[in-house]
Amino acid sequence: TRHLLGIENLSPGDIELIFETADNFKAVLNRPIKKVPSLRDITIANVFFENSTRTKLSFELAEKRLSADVVNFASGSSSVKKGETLIDTVNNILAMKVDMVVMRHSSPGAPHFLSRHIQANIINAGDGTHEHPTQGLLDAFSIREKLGEVAGKKVAIIGDILHSRVALSNIFCLQKLGAEVMVCGPATLLPRYIRELGVQVEQDVFRALQWCDVANVLRIQLERQQIKYFPSLREYSLYYGISKKLLNRLDKEIVIMHPGPINRGVELNSDVADSEHSIILQQVENGVAIRMAVLYLLAAQR
Ligand code: CP
Repeated sequence: TRHLLGIENLSPGDIELIFETADNFKAVLNRPIKKVPSLRDITIANVFFENSTRTKLSFELAEKRLSADVVNFASGSSSVKKGETLIDTVNNILAMKVDMVVMRHSSPGAPHFLSRHIQANIINAGDGTHEHPTQGLLDAFSIREKLGEVAGKKVAIIGDILHSRVALSNIFCLQKLGAEVMVCGPATLLPRYIRELGVQVEQDVFRALQWCDVANVLRIQLERQQIKYFPSLREYSLYYGISKKLLNRLDKEIVIMHPGPINRGVELNSDVADSEHSIILQQVENGVAIRMAVLYLLAAQR
């Protein structure tokens, strides 16, 4: 494939190849000299129509570690503000001889649409509520690193599943690797199609935590809520917030993950986010190696 648009169409073998390539790059990133010449002749544009800290910076670092030339585009400070369309914007960037486009957009399917109109490789860095494939990959890679393997592990994804692209990419990735997946959240924040994905559904957060080996905790995405959903943030933290006190009631230890950004005190308390159970910053670290692997494998097919 020329693009990474989602995890839905990847095979377990594709994912394993990305992980093995990321293992090699992670070793490179732990060396004093972190740079390799693999993408020396490649120019990459990071095209972000939505805000980002982790994804944008880790793609840029991954590209620089691979010796690619990098340009960054943020729609808020661009001629999109003067009415330029998505295709015109990207075609103008490509006219400057760009080989790969990393794109984040608020509309589900925007990178898929673009992939039918342009020649460059496209990597989806998050399309609305649809997929965030490199996040799904780095999350599963982090579970593999922490627990030895993903197959057979029980992973609960807890939070605003309805508005989360991270949830969908995690479900696809974890299931392809043989994990059992549960989603947990208030009924108002679970999509109607969720049971068709073959996941378990639980509305009680304590029962979800008691079931799982790993809890991947998501934030409430207020920016995607067109109407006011129940519960409010205050109600959410009351019924679903994960605290040390709640974890202490479990009869086992579990791994805590979060893709970021964290709303501290809402879905996750600091006494959990910053505890020894949390691998949140390891996820961020692994994001660079995973993105290097994806860019390297796509560039190798050019
Ligand atoms: N996890 C994630 O996508 O974070 P950013 O929105 O900051 O990139």
